[in-house]
Amino acid sequence: MAEILIPIHLNIAIMDKKRRDLLKLSGLAGIGIAGSSLVPQLTQASIFNTMAQANPSTSAQTFNMCGFAAAPIDNVRIGFIGLGNRGPAAVERIKLIQGVSINGLCDIRKEKADEVLKSLEGSAHHPQLYTGKEEEWKRMCDRADIDLIYIATPWSMHTPMAVYAMNKGKHVCVEVPAAKTIDECWQLVETSEKTRRHCMILENCCYDFFELLTLNLARQGFFGEIVHTEGAYLHDLLEGNFSKTKYYDLWRLKENLRNGNLYPTHGLGPIAQLMNINRGEKMDYLVSLSGNDFQMGKMADELAANDAFYKPYAGKHWRGNINTTIIKTQGGRTIMLQHDVTSPNVYSRIHKVSGTKASALKYPLPGKIAVGHEDWLSEKEMQELENKYQPPIVKKLGEVAKQVGGHGGMDFLMDWRTMDCLRNGLPLDIDVYDAALWSSIAPLTEVSVANRSKAMDVPDFTRGAWKTNKPVDILLQKGGDTKVIS
Ligand SMILES: NC(=O)c1ccc[n+]([C@@H]2O[C@H](COP(=O)([O-])OP(=O)(O)OC[C@H]3O[C@@H](n4cnc5c(N)ncnc54)[C@H](O)[C@@H]3O)[C@@H](O)[C@H]2O)c1
Repeated sequence: MAEILIPIHLNIAIMDKKRRDLLKLSGLAGIGIAGSSLVPQLTQASIFNTMAQANPSTSAQTFNMCGFAAAPIDNVRIGFIGLGNRGPAAVERIKLIQGVSINGLCDIRKEKADEVLKSLEGSAHHPQLYTGKEEEWKRMCDRADIDLIYIATPWSMHTPMAVYAMNKGKHVCVEVPAAKTIDECWQLVETSEKTRRHCMILENCCYDFFELLTLNLARQGFFGEIVHTEGAYLHDLLEGNFSKTKYYDLWRLKENLRNGNLYPTHGLGPIAQLMNINRGEKMDYLVSLSGNDFQMGKMADELAANDAFYKPYAGKHWRGNINTTIIKTQGGRTIMLQHDVTSPNVYSRIHKVSGTKASALKYPLPGKIAVGHEDWLSEKEMQELENKYQPPIVKKLGEVAKQVGGHGGMDFLMDWRTMDCLRNGLPLDIDVYDAALWSSIAPLTEVSVANRSKAMDVPDFTRGAWKTNKPVDILLQKGGDTKVIS
């Protein structure tokens, strides 16, 4: 039997005890837990897959969080953790929404929290600050007068923060990706089910205008059967990742020592919704392939030659620059995902939809739709289509969102919709199963890449509930009454 390589950070040794016990139960005890980096610790390909499933046959869903509606919260009291590049922009947007109170701001760097506090001067918000210590965020989560924790920290902190916050009775909105390992994905699911707290991944691209249009078109049957979709994150971050100041403690650069599709959710979120994944459809397995690194190692070595600061990054094995992953669904459809954050590409998330009756392609912008092989629809035809099929959230708030901004407005649509659902006691559009599934793609690709593109089973985090879960509501039939403060 061929050996399977497991990257060390996905090592069974760092798994939650409960899942290690499950593996023992399923007769897989005695697996070697040794080694430094990519070591052949596990001797059967099936073991990782068993690990990934965390053996759903022995652990049933305790409560279905898909479609779960918490009690309405008229005034949503929020604590923010992480006020670097992304966090302050979220605070700026949230403060424009009716019925929210920003009660806490946390960043390990005091100056970052101070800056955001200053930006709130003269507003109705008077948050307490939590700074200076690695675990100050816990004190904020411990407070009784906070309903929601909004997390925009480096990736490795997402799950520990989200799990702690849910255990303290808070709903959670967590930046992408929500988790870095399969074990963390299961921790999110199990904690959300146990505490009945929302755990939403802040996948803003689900709220971009063309993506929402194609979602509604899919719902109306415009594409016919959806046969194939594509998504990507093609965004040149090479210089930014090596910057000494752009990301806290160069956390984002360090993530690139992993090899796979590290950031799948921007491309995947919208197409997963469009294909009703977790809600009538499910991913079955994936294969993933990365080429070599042609850029990061060279840059690290060049920088280190002239600047001792970069010496720890020289001579390392960096992520293959371009990763391509293909996923097959239970219903026999396919998804292609790409990840490339080093090549000088024009920014793209691809967003391609191939159906039996029509197709769509967002990038290169502007987004295009076709109903045959001859050509894309004309500008006029596109306009007519948009007028007819733009979903209610865009009709209601699209213009306001464009003025507020945040990636062209999608960030504001996401925040407004989330606050409106919480205030009206409605299910959130994106639940913990989406957070876990979309995030799980990264560790699954890492193992596939390390094993000559071996097929990896994709865990069913819904543990069978996908068969009956209902698609996301995009009609704004309930709620929609939360005002924007001008
Ligand atoms: N959805 C999007 O479009 C989008 C865009 C950019 C970033 N992001 C995500 O947002 C997150 C943050 O990215 P960023 O660019 O703002 O990174 P950043 O490094 O600028 O910010 C992270 C912040 O977390 C703080 N922090 C670190 N350790 C902490 C601790 N123990 N307690 C409290 N605060 C701590 C840092 O001081 C820093 O200010 C990432 O998950 C990233 O993937 C999402």
